[in-house]
Amino acid sequence: CIDIAKLPKETGCFTYDPGFTATAACKSAITYIDGDNGVLLYRGYPIEQLAKQSSFLEVAYLLMNGELPNKAQFDKFDHEVAHHTMMHEAFKNFLGGFRHDAHPMAMLVGMVGSMASFYHNTLDLEDPEQRRLAAIRLIAKVPTIAAACYRYSIGWPVRFPRNNLEYVDRFLHMMFEVPSEPLELPPVAAKALDLLFILHADHEQNASTSTVRLVGSTGANPYACVAAGVAALWGPAHGGANEAVLKMLAEIGDAKNVQSAVDKAKDKESGFRLMGFGHRVYKNFDPRAKIIREMTYQVLNDLGVNDPLLDVAIKLEEAALKDDYFVQRKLYPNVDFYSGIIYKALKIPTEMFTVMFAIARTAGWVAHWLEQQEDPDAKIGRPRQIYTGYDKRDYADIGKR
Ligand code: ACO
Repeated sequence: CIDIAKLPKETGCFTYDPGFTATAACKSAITYIDGDNGVLLYRGYPIEQLAKQSSFLEVAYLLMNGELPNKAQFDKFDHEVAHHTMMHEAFKNFLGGFRHDAHPMAMLVGMVGSMASFYHNTLDLEDPEQRRLAAIRLIAKVPTIAAACYRYSIGWPVRFPRNNLEYVDRFLHMMFEVPSEPLELPPVAAKALDLLFILHADHEQNASTSTVRLVGSTGANPYACVAAGVAALWGPAHGGANEAVLKMLAEIGDAKNVQSAVDKAKDKESGFRLMGFGHRVYKNFDPRAKIIREMTYQVLNDLGVNDPLLDVAIKLEEAALKDDYFVQRKLYPNVDFYSGIIYKALKIPTEMFTVMFAIARTAGWVAHWLEQQEDPDAKIGRPRQIYTGYDKRDYADIGKR
């Protein structure tokens, strides 16, 4: 591992690394991944233990602060988050400006970015307490904004956050509650969603987190940094994969079509990939996929849902794991392969899947932004390029071209 920045300038050492497959852009103490052995640790704690014993809000505290909270610390954090869940009334003006059929990720990018216009006067980036407050506001308000975007898209009035509820329950109520009927949620709904949020909370320097850090490196407002992270998450090669997986499973439609989908994915000319397969870092099973797979069965069982897409997913996994193409390239199901089936069973619409991911990943984004603000080595992110254009040439008047 060479620290290029510390080499003498005269060496002229320069790396070409499209996609940053072998370039560390920062040091971080938040998340550790061993992709060859399928290991994921948040602040040293194995993801399997956190998934079983912790809650999303506790994990958010852990990521931000470096240690698990004691009871008093957790209660204070929970109270602070609940205190900041409301949106300013004027946010509704932004919401009302979107087309009714806008993709909720498009709305989320805009709405989170617009937070920068509400809290700029109270934000001194030099003050650690104000940085912490910005992080808390984001963790608290992103679910409120997300649920508002959904309700706007189906023409329902925005629902206020019920702050006597826990984080995930509060979100589900903002999404689905209607005034006339109390919302009866099966216990597995909040449990499954909390688990998915834990598993999606952070994943070191993925595309969206690196984007948050790149924007953060310029000293930009944290709400603008996180809005940039939301935009980066949207693409189907990253967080948009959960939506793409469900669309793909629906297109395959039946277990008998699985082999032809696998064959198509092997054909480079087809431009088709098995969505939910492969990962830049995991060259072994994604440990999050194993946990989600188990929860998928529990959710479908508890809710009595018989989803034929689960059969398609199981057959697809079996077929790919037996196929030399996928075996040789170490393409295993990733975190998003099963999450969509759970979201669907919870009646969360497909367009909202990546929004759900964004709610969870906000915890990671703010933790990285906070860490970066305190990093004495942090510099403005400024990659170089290998220039492939013309040598110097002279301008010609338009009539002579
Ligand atoms: N289906 C078919 N072939 C694939 C797939 C796939 N899902 N993923 C990778 N490959 C092949 C590539 O064609 C390439 O083959 P080659 O060596 O013959 O050229 C090889 O495997 C390596 O693929 P790369 O694209 O170079 O791997 P990279 O690390 O750049 O990409 C990525 C990782 C983007 C996740 C990729 O595997 C992919 O597109 N997967 C599908 C989308 C997806 O599920 N994304 C979610 C990722 S997890 C997350 O963001 C939360």
